[in-house]
Amino acid sequence: GAAAAGLTTAGCLGFGGGGDGGETIEIGSDIPYRPFEYENEQGELVGFDVDIAEAVFSGELGYEYEFVPNSFDTIIPSLKNGNFRVIMSAMTINDERAQQVDFSDPYFTAYQTIVVRNDSDITSKEDLRGKRVGVQKGTTGADAAAELQSEFDGELQINEYDQIPDAFSALLNNQVVAVINDNTVSAEFVDQNGDQVRFVEGEGEAAAQGEDAPPYLTLTVENYGIAFRQDDDDFREEVNGALQSIRESGEYDEIYNEYFSG
Ligand code: ARG
Repeated sequence: GAAAAGLTTAGCLGFGGGGDGGETIEIGSDIPYRPFEYENEQGELVGFDVDIAEAVFSGELGYEYEFVPNSFDTIIPSLKNGNFRVIMSAMTINDERAQQVDFSDPYFTAYQTIVVRNDSDITSKEDLRGKRVGVQKGTTGADAAAELQSEFDGELQINEYDQIPDAFSALLNNQVVAVINDNTVSAEFVDQNGDQVRFVEGEGEAAAQGEDAPPYLTLTVENYGIAFRQDDDDFREEVNGALQSIRESGEYDEIYNEYFSG
């Protein structure tokens, strides 16, 4: 999208680190998706995925690495075209994608959630019937909206945006009544705009699956993975080993707490 092009011109990417001067691992990602991959006020690329990439690719495996912006909707074809080596983009592991890419072991759990304006009378997912919601194109949020639409026999309008900030703006501007998106990303938006927006509350999938459920309605339980081309097994195993090491060493928890200490 336009925002990603802007990032490139500003020269803010190509952020990378570490390594012993060997191979550079290029990482495809849709930016911004705060707190996973976004630019801070200094114009540096930061986020949970960026710190995990640093720990795994550089710290554990000794490679250099670089984030390459790509719209989320076309990120799997771009990986398959060889535009980068892996995808790290808060990407949910699911069967449809697993037909096209291979995933690492899961590294984060997320839930689809519904955010509405404070002035709206929506208090349940049923209240969305006949309304218009916003999602990011190509995401599991878009899938969750499509599922609701069929649950409502078509009585749901869906606006698909290239990037999640566009969906959030549409909510603030009354163009949609709700945004369906990953919980921690929407939680940042709610934190920053608490005077204007809130989560729809209630018990959902997380509680149903016995998860330590967040205090708002969850439509799905999902796990993020790093995506690889299907001919890249050795490298995928290497990365899985590194993910395990940073869990055992406590580095994963340190990074987790930095972004999600609550
Ligand atoms: N977890 C969701 C999915 O896999 C949304 C990911 C969007 N990521 C991003 N960097 N924009 O579909």
